[in-house]
Amino acid sequence: MNSVIRAVVRKAMQEGWVVSGIKNGWAGLVENNMRILDLRLTSGILDRGGTILGTSRMVPPLDKGMKEIISENFKRSGIDALVAVGGEHTLAIALELYKEMKIPLVGVPKSIDNALSGTDYAFGFDTAVNIATECIDRLHTTAESHHRIIVIEVMGRYTGWIALEAGIAGGAHITLIPEVPIDIGVICDSLRSRHKRGKNYTLIVVSEGAQIPGYATGLIEEREGNKKFVGIGKLLGDIIEKEIKYETRVSVLGHIQRGGTPTSYDRIIATRFGVCAVELIRDGIFGKMVSLHNNKIRSVDIEEAVKKRKTVDRAFYDTFKAFSE
Ligand code: F6P
Repeated sequence: MNSVIRAVVRKAMQEGWVVSGIKNGWAGLVENNMRILDLRLTSGILDRGGTILGTSRMVPPLDKGMKEIISENFKRSGIDALVAVGGEHTLAIALELYKEMKIPLVGVPKSIDNALSGTDYAFGFDTAVNIATECIDRLHTTAESHHRIIVIEVMGRYTGWIALEAGIAGGAHITLIPEVPIDIGVICDSLRSRHKRGKNYTLIVVSEGAQIPGYATGLIEEREGNKKFVGIGKLLGDIIEKEIKYETRVSVLGHIQRGGTPTSYDRIIATRFGVCAVELIRDGIFGKMVSLHNNKIRSVDIEEAVKKRKTVDRAFYDTFKAFSE
C-alpha cells in the first residue's frame, strides 16, 4: 500500500491532482475523515508494513443511505478519483460504489491471501509466505531434535495459497488447505507409516480455514460480515496426538504473517501497480483493477476480480504432495 500511495502522490503532484487518504477505509468516506497525502506524509514509508492511514476493511452496513452519504462526501471532497487498495471485501464494495454511485475509482489488489481472480498476484502475499516459511524453518529445529509432530496454523480462511507455498518452501511433510476437506484417517495412516520408516518428526502446515468433516472445526465467529476462524491447528493436534500417541505441538502464526517489513518483491509489484493505477486515472479509465498477468501489468474489470474467488488448483496441490510425506 505504501508504495502505491507513493507512486500515486508523485504522479498526481506533478499533474496537479487532488490526492487524499481516507482514514479507516470506507468508513472514512462515511465520516468525512480524510487527509491530504503530501510528499512529507508519504516519504520514507516504503519499508513499512500495514497502512499509514490506519484503514481497515470494516465498513458500516452498505445500504442505500450509506452509499448516498459516501457519494455526497466524495463529491464534496474534491478528490478526482478513488484508489481502492485491498482484497475481495474492499473491491466488492468498490464495485458497488462504482456501478451504483458512479464514483470514479480503480482497484489495486492487496491481500496476503492472494485469492483475488483476474490477477496472478496480490501484493502482501510474498511477504506472508516468506514469514511463514521462516517460521517453518525455525520450527523444524524443535520438531527434529525433540521428535515431535508440530502443527503450524497459517492464515487463509477460504484459500490455501499461503499454506501451500510456505509448505513447499519450508519442506512441510503434510499441507492441509480449505479447498480439500481433511481426511483424518489418511493423515494418521501417513504419520504411522512415516514413523515406521524411521522418520521421527513431522511438520504439518494447515490453513486456518481448513475443515475436518464430522468435527465442529474450532470456533467460527462472525464480526461485521467478516468470518474469524479459530482452532483448526489445536483441534488437529489434539486428534493426532490422541490417535497415534505421538507428542504433538501446535504453533498458530496468526498476525505475525501480516507484520513487519514487506519483501522487495512486494515493494516492486506494489510500485508497479501504483503506476498503472495512476495511468488509468489519468486516462479516465475507471471500474478496473490493476493486475499482474505473466509478469506484465495490465488491468481487468473489478467485476472479474471479485466474481469468483481464486482457489488453489487441485492439480497443483496434488503435484506437490509427492514431495512430502
Ligand atoms: O484477509 C486477510 C487475512 O489476513 C486472512 O488471511 C485472515 O484470516 C484475516 O485477514 C484475519 O483478519 P483479522 O485480522 O480481522 O482477524
